[in-house]
Amino acid sequence: MSSQVVSLASGYGNFAMPEVALEAAKAALRDAQAQGMPLAVSPAAGLPALREALARRYQQRGAAGITAEQVIITGGAKTGLFAVLSELLRPGDEVLLPTPNWFGFFDLVRRAGGTVRELPLAPAHSYALTPGQLRAALTPATRLLLLSNPNNPTGRVYSRTEWEALLAVADEFPGLWVLSDEIYEGICFGPAPVPTLLALPGPAAQRVVVSGFSKSLALTGWGVGCLVAPPALARAVAARLFSTGAAVPVPNQLAALAATEHAAAISRQLCEQLRPTRQRLLAALAALGAAPVLAPEGTYYVFADFTRLLAPGVPPIEASADLVRRLAEAGVEVVDGASCGAPGFLRLSYAVDAAALQQALASLAAVAGRDANV
Ligand SMILES: Cc1ncc(COP(=O)(O)O)c(C=O)c1O
Repeated sequence: MSSQVVSLASGYGNFAMPEVALEAAKAALRDAQAQGMPLAVSPAAGLPALREALARRYQQRGAAGITAEQVIITGGAKTGLFAVLSELLRPGDEVLLPTPNWFGFFDLVRRAGGTVRELPLAPAHSYALTPGQLRAALTPATRLLLLSNPNNPTGRVYSRTEWEALLAVADEFPGLWVLSDEIYEGICFGPAPVPTLLALPGPAAQRVVVSGFSKSLALTGWGVGCLVAPPALARAVAARLFSTGAAVPVPNQLAALAATEHAAAISRQLCEQLRPTRQRLLAALAALGAAPVLAPEGTYYVFADFTRLLAPGVPPIEASADLVRRLAEAGVEVVDGASCGAPGFLRLSYAVDAAALQQALASLAAVAGRDANV
């Protein structure tokens, strides 16, 4: 066992808090203290100012018709996902999940009473999802198509053109909802910004976007997320949140408001920070023969194929867990691709400092049996 283990497994980046957000939260706390008053309690749906600012931001991104009443503030993206899934899913409903996909979706769907059906996508085709594949996978029991865009763990960004073709198929199935988790939307290295589902043409009555502030806007640990849904579903989600938990604290929402107003600059700065470790990790994986077919455009992960390191004759899930264990013993923690639907693949985060990455790469190379000087 290595004495010092470096983690490339965290879903949260090594980002400094945005100054504007911190100042907004501090001012709210100071004001309450100066007045000798408790903190104000937010409406369950969120502060109107934040809901309006988010609606405006979606309008700027091309979703002209979005209104503040459709925007609900949630205790992180996970809370929003669970509330929406719980509202939408009925016993026996299936959620079609193209995989690889974020491991968290599996349990969220199960706990909301649904069943995940995986639609495996091929790494050799850069995880493309074609209209034909989608049509063949949809059944009368499919209530929801769930995507993350950019995708966690692959970093794949589904373009506007790809989305349009998929939505044309989805629209052929009248009971089907489409949910796009866009929490990594601001972490993008591709030529075009990540399109939001809300800005795509076609009937929007069964489309939902979930997002959050913990990734693209560096408000890690602040527990703020949001969702945008058709008005009736948004109201139902707000009523559910009112009955089942506390509203997101006002200082956190004011921090999120400041971050929303400076969203472009914050995300740009994060991408600049991430660029060198991204290059380093991709170069090292190329040296190990494990670089993805196309460099991932979004998120701060690379999903690398290490299936050649799986013990032969062992069931893939066990072999994948064993590989992750060997890596931890050599000094690097990674996410087991099996948890995302792809045994033998590893999710590696490059939202870590350069020295930690270098040490992690040496451990990886030691297990991969190649030159440690990757
Ligand atoms: C795709 C995706 N959605 C949602 C979440 C949860 O985000 P939050 O921290 O806002 O609950 C994560 C966290 O890793 C994620 O990767």
